[in-house]
Amino acid sequence: MKAIILAGGSGTRLYPVTLTVNKHLLPIYNKPMIYYPLSLVMLLGIKDVLFVVNPADRSSFEKLFGDGSKLGINIKYQIQEKPNGLAEGLILAEDFIGDDSVCYILGDNIFFGHDLIKIMEEAKKDVEKDGGAYVFGYSVRDPERFGVVEFDKNGNVISIEEKPKNPKSNYAVVGMYFYDDEAVEIAKRVKPSDRGELEITSVNGEYLRRGKLKVKLLGRGFAWFDAGTHESFLEAGEFVATIEKKTGLMIGCIEEIAYRNGWIDREQLLELAKPLAKTDYGKYLMELAEGED
Ligand code: G1P
Repeated sequence: MKAIILAGGSGTRLYPVTLTVNKHLLPIYNKPMIYYPLSLVMLLGIKDVLFVVNPADRSSFEKLFGDGSKLGINIKYQIQEKPNGLAEGLILAEDFIGDDSVCYILGDNIFFGHDLIKIMEEAKKDVEKDGGAYVFGYSVRDPERFGVVEFDKNGNVISIEEKPKNPKSNYAVVGMYFYDDEAVEIAKRVKPSDRGELEITSVNGEYLRRGKLKVKLLGRGFAWFDAGTHESFLEAGEFVATIEKKTGLMIGCIEEIAYRNGWIDREQLLELAKPLAKTDYGKYLMELAEGED
């Protein structure tokens, strides 16, 4: 399985902050937003990652990650000329995906929860083995902001709608999707929605029509933020700060994950820590490098 992280878009819901800075490079507490989805992909053991980015921001992402080798992974970049929707990200990634399956994560989605990786691994295995699509629902107070999934009384999915005025449930579809190799072809047939975008919900709707959509609910033990508005951006940062201060463990620390995965060695970790030495982030990496055998 490969991974795509969508980091394009114009970030209009975060204006004026994002008039000149790409949303995904803004800090969620002590690290760029984009570290969080990348960390999940790395925790899943996926080493081939494609960032879908705006033309103007490509160089910033390259400055941050290069070709990924300093983290022991392979990063490629794909330009999205205009924010034409999430499904377009899949189409643009056609050559990268080839005939592989894919984990597609939105660059502004932040997840936290016990067993999160276990649940993602289940989705990955399921799609690799049986094909189809696997997505997640999360109970929210404002479902009209999101893709919304409706279940019958036996828990079967009966509909999925993008930003419905009258949501049929409180379950938002979060921005992490697992697809088999049909996704690109399905995305190519999607027609623009009323807001002029190729919606990922239309891709998921087609999998549902084919009887190939699985939806797992993320229950009370999970936190999920779509950090694309001022309010949720702040909430996500406060959440990460609280957990990190309480536990002394970092969330979304890509260098730590690369090291623990055995993708970089102690020397490489220390190299990555050096420029960060004045921060708690850097000290955390130093301690990690020095502390374990
Ligand atoms: C997008 C998707 C929506 C999904 C949400 C998750 O919304 O279209 O289905 O629930 O991400 O963050 P957008 O960010 O484009 O408003």
